[in-house]
Amino acid sequence: MLVSLVKVRDHSYKFISASPFAPNLGAEIYGVDLSKSISEEQFGDIFQAFLDHQVLFFKNQKEIPPDVHIAFGKRFGELHAHPAAPTMKGYPEIFEIHADKNSKIANGEFWHSDVSCDLEPPLGTMLQLHVLPECGGDTMFANMYMAYDSLSKPMQNFLNGLRASHESEHFYRNRYEKQDQLDPKKKYPSAIHPIVRTHPETKKKALYINKFFTTRIEGLSKQESKLILEYLFNHCEKTDFQIRYRWNKNDMAFWDNRCTLHKAIWDYHPMERKGRRVTIKGTIPY
Ligand code: SIN
Repeated sequence: MLVSLVKVRDHSYKFISASPFAPNLGAEIYGVDLSKSISEEQFGDIFQAFLDHQVLFFKNQKEIPPDVHIAFGKRFGELHAHPAAPTMKGYPEIFEIHADKNSKIANGEFWHSDVSCDLEPPLGTMLQLHVLPECGGDTMFANMYMAYDSLSKPMQNFLNGLRASHESEHFYRNRYEKQDQLDPKKKYPSAIHPIVRTHPETKKKALYINKFFTTRIEGLSKQESKLILEYLFNHCEKTDFQIRYRWNKNDMAFWDNRCTLHKAIWDYHPMERKGRRVTIKGTIPY
């Protein structure tokens, strides 16, 4: 156990109730009804809890209509348009998360930070699930501040200042067939980001690489890059940094893509799992 890294966050909030999900990551949020408009005071507490806990799980919710979900997302900033996934009819801001007996893929099956291949990758993602399988369909999250903090100083020094390519062509091309058919010449995004990023709000350092999108470290030979990335991907997947969330119907999860990774477990085929996701645009990582 990484005793030195584990500390239960003990902030108190006036307008919401936040109960730590685990000592390393996440909080369950009570006393907020997302179907109604959120006061400035509540919003302030939610924002602070988001920075403190990195992933929030809003409990005891009703299914919120798409426009309410969009409006809540917009409180945190401009919304992000997904470069590949089809959107909900009439709601270009909404990415429908859905898998059932006919699905060939399910979204987010490997550890990743959403769309890190974008020049300005998402700040955060809000997902509400309305249809759940009888069992399974959990989502895992991992704390990337901890992943950075637990590296040795020489390794931290080595990684600070290095940058890596995040690409998506290999992943998105032919993934969502209809999109490619609509625009066969479509270019999928790529960007170069620091391997260690500074969170723009908390100023803490986090590892910012993931198996989905990160392909190559700049300035290293191909073999060096492969070895270091493999080491870092494995390091980020250490159980010490993780939580595994079991959903209840209509829970809303809101995760910070700048300092966490996540992975959706597709263990429920042929059962159905369905919800709606709104993603908030971020800034250029530094
Ligand atoms: C994702 O947005 O990566 C999917 C998360 C989930 O379905 O739990």
